[in-house]
Order: sequence, then structure tokens, then C-alpha cells
Amino acid sequence: MSTLADQVAIVTGSGRGIGRAIAEALLQEGANIVISDINEELCQTTAAEINKQAGREAALAVPCNVTDGASVAKMVEAVMAKWSRIDILVNNAGITRDALFMRMSQEQWQAVIDTNLTSAFKVTQPVLKVMSKQRSGRIINIASTTGVHGNFGQVNYAAAKAGLIGFTKTIALEYASRNITSNAVAPGFIDTAMTQALGEEIISKVIEKIPLGRMGTPEDIARAVVFFAGPGAYVTGQVMEVNGGLYT
Ligand SMILES: NC(=O)c1ccc[n+]([C@@H]2O[C@H](COP(=O)([O-])OP(=O)(O)OC[C@H]3O[C@@H](n4cnc5c(N)ncnc54)[C@H](O)[C@@H]3O)[C@@H](O)[C@H]2O)c1
Repeated sequence: MSTLADQVAIVTGSGRGIGRAIAEALLQEGANIVISDINEELCQTTAAEINKQAGREAALAVPCNVTDGASVAKMVEAVMAKWSRIDILVNNAGITRDALFMRMSQEQWQAVIDTNLTSAFKVTQPVLKVMSKQRSGRIINIASTTGVHGNFGQVNYAAAKAGLIGFTKTIALEYASRNITSNAVAPGFIDTAMTQALGEEIISKVIEKIPLGRMGTPEDIARAVVFFAGPGAYVTGQVMEVNGGLYT
């Protein structure tokens, strides 16, 4: 039986990578999904491909820039016009702008804070208004092991993801009484365009350190999200590291 039948899920940054895999996994559990991405073309083609594979009109393409409140408001309006409810929000959109601390520009710092942290404030607030009225909901934030342990060259990203973990735990406390849970998945080293950009040499050095001996896949992350999204998850304020055993 589908665990998420008739539910509506928004996944930000779901045009490709981890976000797309999350959207596909939620759809397999029966949910209707909102494919949302700053890249409009990616958004439309991904939603069209997913609908074709699913054989039903389960994916709605809604281009949205998560750093722009007006764009977010339009997305929420479009979802409510189509389905009149929002059950699951996955704050997944994210970027990297890596540099060692002393070489990091204020632009690099701000771009990552805006896209990876302030976006969660901008998207979650209007969605929680809807979920509060429904008296149910699931918020799942895609953090990073970097937000838990830190990482060379990623002070902006580590600060944003650590902030997102604090955000997750506080929303969990404030909304538990409305039957809304808030959890985070912290991926380790996952095979997507974001990590491919690091180049083969760095990738093979990191893989050597991963106890399970391989990079994670977007589907590995999607399975954790499906768990938190499920109706029986008696869990809130939790951070699940999905990292193949690499805790540094
Ligand atoms: N790949 C990894 O190893 C890894 C590890 C830890 C955490 N993460 C996190 O997982 C999430 C997804 O990463 P990914 O590897 O799939 O990256 P990706 O670059 O493949 O995909 C990110 C998507 O987000 C979209 N996006 C970027 N800025 C946006 C904005 N302002 N508004 C809306 N959409 C925007 C992009 O267009 C892209 O489609 C990110 O939050 C990332 O920080 C990834």
C-alpha cells in the first residue's frame, strides 16, 4: 500500500541531483510532487520526464528561486491552487562557493548563507501557515555532515548547514503541538554535479576514507527522507547522517 497516497510534497531544487531523487521516491510512495528549481528549463523537463515514467500527472513544475520571497509566495499559491494542501516540505536547494577562510569573499559567504539557510526561513514560513491549519505536516531539511563536523574550504557552507540544523530543532519544538515534525538529513559525500565539480583526484581521496567504500547516491538520501516523511515516524528534531560511516 502507498504510504503517502494523496499527499502533496514540495521539494526545492529538485530539477536534478538529490532533490530529483527525493521527489521520485516520494512519488513512488504515492505522493503528488512539486518539482521546483531556479533553473526553469530543468524544472519543466524533469517534471515532464517524471510524469511520463509514472504514467500519471503527479508532478507539477513550479520554477522558484528560494532566495526570493516573492518567488516563494508564487510557488505556494500555485501549489494551493492545484492541490489545496501541502503535507511535506523538503528544503533541499543548495549551492557551494568554496574557498579557504582568509580567501573567502563576502559575496561567497553571503550567497551560500542566502541560498542554504535564509531560504529555509523564506520557504518554511508560508508553508507552515498551511500545515498549521491542516494540523499535520512534515518538514525535512537537507543539511550536510559539513554542518556537523566542519570541512576545509567550506566555512560558509558549514555555517549555513549548522544553522539549518538549529532551525530544524527549533521548528520541531514550536510545531510539535500541531502534529508537524521537523527533521534533517545530513548527507556525506554524494555522487551529484555538486561533487563531480571537485574532480577525480579529490573524489578518489575522499572515497578512500569512507568506511563503506563508496560515494553515496541520491537514492541513499531519498530513502532517509521517505522515512521522515512517513506517517508513522515518531521522530522530530532529529539529524540523520547518511554518510557511509565517514564522521569527519
Ligand atoms: N552532493 C553532496 O555530496 C551533498 C552533501 C551534503 C549535502 N548536500 C546538499 O544536498 C542538496 C542538493 O545537492 P545536490 O548535490 O543535489 O546539488 P545539485 O547542484 O546537483 O542540485 C542543486 C539544485 O538546486 C538548484 N538551486 C540552486 N540554487 C537555487 C535557488 N536559489 N532556488 C532554487 N533552486 C536552486 C539548482 O538549480 C540544482 O538543480 C544541497 O542542499 C546540498 O548542499 C549535497
